[in-house]
Amino acid sequence: MNYEKFLEGRVALITGAGSSGFGREMAKSFASKGADIVINDINLEGLRETQEIILNEFNVEVLIVKADISNSIEVKEMADQVFKKFDNVFLLVNNAGIDSGLYTSLKTKEEIYDKVMAVNAKGAWNVTKFFFRRMKRQKQFKPIVGKIINIASCAGTDNGFNPFFGVYSASKATLIAFTKLWALELGSSNITVNAISPGVLLTPIYNNDPKLIKMLLKTRGVKLPIDRIGEAKDVADVALFLASPAADYITGQNVILDGGMTISINKL
Ligand SMILES: NC(=O)c1ccc[n+]([C@@H]2O[C@H](COP(=O)([O-])OP(=O)(O)OC[C@H]3O[C@@H](n4cnc5c(N)ncnc54)[C@H](O)[C@@H]3O)[C@@H](O)[C@H]2O)c1
Repeated sequence: MNYEKFLEGRVALITGAGSSGFGREMAKSFASKGADIVINDINLEGLRETQEIILNEFNVEVLIVKADISNSIEVKEMADQVFKKFDNVFLLVNNAGIDSGLYTSLKTKEEIYDKVMAVNAKGAWNVTKFFFRRMKRQKQFKPIVGKIINIASCAGTDNGFNPFFGVYSASKATLIAFTKLWALELGSSNITVNAISPGVLLTPIYNNDPKLIKMLLKTRGVKLPIDRIGEAKDVADVALFLASPAADYITGQNVILDGGMTISINKL
């Protein structure tokens, strides 16, 4: 295999790729290894920007699909559009997500609970449901026929549950649970399923504002052992590793990507 372009002939679908956050950076990384790209978001303008950036830099195809992942009808239409253009989705990256504001779980309004769960948990489930059957049949790829990567969060892990993002934490814990369930359900079909759980990284979800991030870390008594704020490229690099043949025997895992944040909460 040509490792320089190990994703050539393979399609990567990334949800939530219409911002300058993780989605766009992952789409660029996969394109750099030869993947054709499907980018999804509810933000069409942002999707067009991502498409232009990729087409300027890489010689791959890019399909834009505007769809709300929390809406199963729109997700079905997305699957139809994708398979009209491409014959596979080797990589499915459930990245789209929203925050729940700075509320403890029990003080969160019902509308926020419903919206955050609908996007962060049900949205990833919706997308996976509409793609896994086709992924299973992609026998042209060996030994692994497809890979699913869920972008969860440290806030959804035992060491990182964050009372200030209560419902968000619960939604990401659900996504981590789905990661393990889908790894069990799809392993015998040679599909791997893993999660990446970033700490607090610089993206539009935190207004690209290092001061806001430092304040959030302070509220949790954290001093990052690796003394820098992480960036979208940190996530894209780990996603590329999970997409590569080097990770073919890894499934059901949640990779913590936080500069040591969760091991240091209230300890340094
Ligand atoms: N930035 C961080 O530090 C951090 C940490 C942990 C986890 N995460 C997670 O990483 C993922 C990406 O976050 P980001 O920081 O790049 O944020 P971002 O806000 O820049 O990107 C999220 C994208 O998802 C899109 N989106 C929202 N609702 C959608 C829907 N219903 N359907 C389709 N697209 C939708 C948004 O329009 C946006 O473009 C999210 O799931 C987030 O929860 C981020």
